[in-house]
Amino acid sequence: MSLNYKDIDYEKIWQDYMECKKGYARERAFNDNVEREFWKGLSQRYDDKPTLYDYSKEVYSFIKNLIDTNKSLIEIGPGTGKFTLPLSEQCSNITAIDFSGHMLKVLMDKAKMLGINNITPIEGKWEDLQVSGADYILSVNSLYRIWNIKTALKKMNMVAKEKVIIVRTIQKPVFNDLYLKLGLEDKTCLDYIYLPNILHSLNICADVKFIGVQCEVEFDSKESIYDNIKKEIGYIPDKNIIDNYINENFKKSNEKYIFLHKTKVEIIYWKTTK
Ligand SMILES: C[S@@+](CC[C@H](N)C(=O)[O-])C[C@H]1O[C@@H](n2cnc3c(N)ncnc32)[C@H](O)[C@@H]1O
Repeated sequence: MSLNYKDIDYEKIWQDYMECKKGYARERAFNDNVEREFWKGLSQRYDDKPTLYDYSKEVYSFIKNLIDTNKSLIEIGPGTGKFTLPLSEQCSNITAIDFSGHMLKVLMDKAKMLGINNITPIEGKWEDLQVSGADYILSVNSLYRIWNIKTALKKMNMVAKEKVIIVRTIQKPVFNDLYLKLGLEDKTCLDYIYLPNILHSLNICADVKFIGVQCEVEFDSKESIYDNIKKEIGYIPDKNIIDNYINENFKKSNEKYIFLHKTKVEIIYWKTTK
């Protein structure tokens, strides 16, 4: 019997992926208090380390060019406002909806310091809030906890008068290529594939753009590399194999081991239809 594409329930696959998470990742996905504490702990340090905005200006300019000037924007999960603050220059106003009050506080403190006064913070989850319309909706890496993803995407399509833009960095372990060499399964997170398919099931045919990105990941010692691998796959494979991998793929600087982690960012965007 052949499988009909339309019979595939991508929302169920999305939910199965969330269900499969283990340990702390699972706690973060399903327990609001754990997730709140996670961002509370990270909020003051989030801007110290480069994240997507810092290591890919190409992604930022692509998003910026999708948004006309003087339009209103709702940003879902703005965090500390890495994208929000520069976008506030071209938007008439931005409603910044974030689950974490601590991340929002950092964002609003920075806005105040910079004299930016067209950002309104709202603490809460996109899926729970009642919001009035805006011209655009933007989400950068912030949909990962939403169980009823179809309803959440439908809501974006309803609330945005012009366009929805969803950005997802393809998540994979730093050592994914090593794991593949060892015959282990590919640990790339596939939610970036599910999203356009879920949209398709909602009769939304979104554009999809991929941009290659890379960032440096630093390890203090070989031991910390071994520890990292053990945490991810549960054991330390043959150290010769790891050492060869380190020699071929890492550079050493100031006694640190530096890995150039390469992945892609997916930008899904569509003109809304009612
Ligand atoms: C990975 S950070 C990204 C922050 C920012 N977009 C950036 O790229 O720097 C994810 C943010 O989304 C927020 N978040 C997660 N799930 C959310 C939801 N369902 N509704 C609103 N915000 C959410 C988190 O609190 C966090 O601040």
